[in-house]
Amino acid sequence: MNNIKFLENPMRKASGQGADTAFLSLEEAQRARSFHKSFREYQPTPLVSLPNLAKALGVGRIYVKDESKRFGLNAFKVLGASYAIGRYLADRLGWDPSRATRDALGSPEAREKVGDIVFTTATDGNHGRAVAWTTQQLGQKAVVYMPKGSDPTRLANIRAHGAEASITDLNYDDAVRLSLKMAQENGWVIVQDTAWEGYEDIPRWIMEGYTTLALEALEQLREDGVSEPTHIFLQAGVGSFAGGVVGFLASTLGDKMPTAVIVEPNKADCYYRSAEAGDGKPHAVTGDLDTLMAGLACGEPNTIGWEIVRDYAHAFISCPDWVAANGMRILGAPRTGDPRVVSGESGAVTTGILECLMLYSQLSEARKALNLGEDATVLLVSTEGDTSPRVYRDVVWHGKACSPVFPDA
Ligand SMILES: Cc1ncc(COP(=O)(O)O)c(C=O)c1O
Repeated sequence: MNNIKFLENPMRKASGQGADTAFLSLEEAQRARSFHKSFREYQPTPLVSLPNLAKALGVGRIYVKDESKRFGLNAFKVLGASYAIGRYLADRLGWDPSRATRDALGSPEAREKVGDIVFTTATDGNHGRAVAWTTQQLGQKAVVYMPKGSDPTRLANIRAHGAEASITDLNYDDAVRLSLKMAQENGWVIVQDTAWEGYEDIPRWIMEGYTTLALEALEQLREDGVSEPTHIFLQAGVGSFAGGVVGFLASTLGDKMPTAVIVEPNKADCYYRSAEAGDGKPHAVTGDLDTLMAGLACGEPNTIGWEIVRDYAHAFISCPDWVAANGMRILGAPRTGDPRVVSGESGAVTTGILECLMLYSQLSEARKALNLGEDATVLLVSTEGDTSPRVYRDVVWHGKACSPVFPDA
């Protein structure tokens, strides 16, 4: 329907029979969260319940984890970047990871021992801001490369943390290659939120860092009397986030893990296409990757994330930009009685697709396949707030990327 493509995962394996998820276990998630707690800015982000939206869509409950409140940075990404930089520095210092806290790593003794390090990365904005923030906190330096068309506000937010940052004329995947080349030539450390052959420690730590939000969400759900969600929708760029969360849920909940649906923009749907190819290998999408969902504009899957998602996720969806724009509007102008969530393009696409699945008759087969109905408790993660205020206003005030179709009910 209108370019919304749905695919049940043909390669899914039974609990514990697929890719190794030990590095995303409950114990590792608790370790990552202890590290995050050592920052003064740490607080669990709100888990927002939207009972009136749930009723309108015909599901039991909807919860949105609001990552716009994360460390004052308007996005979840700092969970990964901070943990990876923390673990890297602990390794260089020869410390046990449990010694890695913000104060210990930023102390004059630690700084003197490791010396001045330049951390580099490529980013659509959120990850780069996270790297810049962490290096500022720990007294180190960051050099950040952004793909062409990146938002100037996102660039300014990175520079505000003292990093050297620039917008290149490359797409995301080529900007990653530039960052890697600069690291090799200058002896810098690349902190990339995606893995490739031979580059796995840092992306693994990044994925572990993301488990903090999943651990918090499970605890918050339990406080609300829900033992676990029945469904989770996860947006994917390179899939470190989706892989981290799916791996954590598979490792922690086993057979009780929720139905996990991976959602991507049509223009950068490398997970959908890899699943469709069905040969078990990751497949890349090339070109400009020009989607409104800047955080999801990545054409090459994280090799570690791909294996986890391939083995444990239930379904894949590829969708156009208006679905994300609808999600922003639905969360920004909630049903009477529900709280408002300010959600950006990459944050809101899962809300947008849930509405489509529940209200559009053309998607009834997908709705049935996912068993989405009155008994469902759906967990969504709004991974960013209005990280581009301009785009937020264009969409929410002025109707950019409007729906070409309207729900039947
Ligand atoms: C707001 C937001 N949501 C989701 C993602 C997707 O994360 P990943 O690239 O790990 O799939 C990103 C990535 O930058 C992002 O910025």
